[in-house]
Amino acid sequence: MILVSSQILAQNPLLIPDTLSGSNINLTLQPGTYQFYNGINTGTMGANGNILGPTLLLNQGDFVNITVDNQLSDTTTIHWHGLHVSPENDGGPHTYILAGDTWNPSFTVMDKAATYWYHPHLHRKTNEHVSKGIAGMIIVRDNEEAALTLPRSYGVDDFPLVIQTKDFDANNEIVVPTNSDDVVMVNATIDATLDVPAQIVRLRLLNGSSMRVFNIGLSGNQTFYQIASDGGLLSSPNAITRIQLTPGERAEILVDLSSMNGQSIHLMSYASEFQNGIYGALNPGTNAFMTLDGYNPNPLNGKDFNIMRFNVVAPNGNPIMTIPTSLVEVNPIPESNANTTRNLTMTPATMGPNQLNGNFLINNVSFDMDFMNYTIPLGNIEVWSIFNQSAIAHPFHIHDVQFFVLDRNGNPPPASEQGRKDVILVKPQETVRFIAKFEDFTSETVPYMYHCHMLVHEDGGMMGQFIVIDKITGINDTYLNKEISMYPNPTTGIIHITALKNLELKKIEITDLLGRSVMMVDHLISGKAIDLRHLPKRIHLVKIFSDHGVSIKKIMIE
Ligand code: C2O
Ligand code: CU
Ligand code: CU
Repeated sequence: MILVSSQILAQNPLLIPDTLSGSNINLTLQPGTYQFYNGINTGTMGANGNILGPTLLLNQGDFVNITVDNQLSDTTTIHWHGLHVSPENDGGPHTYILAGDTWNPSFTVMDKAATYWYHPHLHRKTNEHVSKGIAGMIIVRDNEEAALTLPRSYGVDDFPLVIQTKDFDANNEIVVPTNSDDVVMVNATIDATLDVPAQIVRLRLLNGSSMRVFNIGLSGNQTFYQIASDGGLLSSPNAITRIQLTPGERAEILVDLSSMNGQSIHLMSYASEFQNGIYGALNPGTNAFMTLDGYNPNPLNGKDFNIMRFNVVAPNGNPIMTIPTSLVEVNPIPESNANTTRNLTMTPATMGPNQLNGNFLINNVSFDMDFMNYTIPLGNIEVWSIFNQSAIAHPFHIHDVQFFVLDRNGNPPPASEQGRKDVILVKPQETVRFIAKFEDFTSETVPYMYHCHMLVHEDGGMMGQFIVIDKITGINDTYLNKEISMYPNPTTGIIHITALKNLELKKIEITDLLGRSVMMVDHLISGKAIDLRHLPKRIHLVKIFSDHGVSIKKIMIE
């Protein structure tokens, strides 16, 4: 084992982000400074603070109303990675928040208990905004999880670990894109150390890095138990000594520390075991002659290194001392239920020894905000077959759904990938097939994304988008809810929007059919006239924000 010298002494207490819960959640995105190194201020971005963001504690079934206040000097978005929400609430690149503006998504939490996260998603700026520091965890709880004997006291026996590498320049500022992401941190803490009780503890692992893949293990090759994949608990704890974690991916693990009081143990990445062709291996491409800017020299590549240290201390008052033998029922979708197969191929935009530097394409095209790559009928059950025809592994991520991996090159996935997933690493020359159902949410204008979660690749266009549609709707059709009426329609320019039920109208946004905003009314009063006479005479979309969510109606201005 080769240790990087700066990591031999883990010595900074791990930052544990604050939590936010309840039905109203306020996030303020702000610039700041943070001392990654004692006494040295580094410019950062954070949510409700200088770095990272609070952990959101959500319960399945709860309705949450979120206000995101963008106090950055830049446009951005906030995406709820892994949550099944409507496209308008998803926070993809089309749902941008201008500097000084606020965004008010609201939704019912439909997801299963697991660890999700939120991060900015503005096209071409995702890497910068995440690397500078904006990222937070989302912990969803549900009744199934609550019925199990598992550690779940946040910061006591249940710990959020946002694992990232970053690159600092000579002035200790964060470099984006990285020239050499050689600094490892957990929850923004370099050389982190945490006191943990001598009992079963739960670690919620998130790889929040821009590029690097980790091969997570414990020092001494100690066994741990994976209990959850990206979007849900597994059927039973999976006893392993390694778990691969690619950017965007999460895993929850249990570690039995009950006989280790007084000892310490490291969380590590055993990157020496990676095959070439993974960002993190000795060679990031499949051939040694291939170059990747800023990749070498980097002491983390192809080496085993510490991520953080745990000091085991006395057990706490209410310790969990056993690992359950089974968890929840996991119901993968049978392949025979699929009605559509889509084939996606990942390729470098240019060939040759420099091809690792990108850009990368999906089905030979680069991301275009105005081009809809797929239109998916609501209720479709689809097999997506992803073939990686490039020389570097890519973590594929899709919004809206959790999927089940069918196979990797025809072989069943390892146990760690047999649960609900939303990110999957596709290695060079590999084909990964997954199955997913596109349900509950439609929009004819706001798409969901699929992309490589290596943020340099995503920003470079390795992304596509899809809409999920119910049916082609007529002009007077109200397809998100029937609680609001808008009249007359067609109109010569004056309309009225009225709440039919006991709901509070908030504001409206009028867009053209490409989703471009043309008008906003901030304080919407039920029944009061709204003047649209200055808008072009054609069909527009009216997004009506209320305390029951967002409703979209088409209006014809004649
Ligand atoms: Cu974690 Cu589309 O992103
Ligand atoms: Cu996502
Ligand atoms: Cu990629």
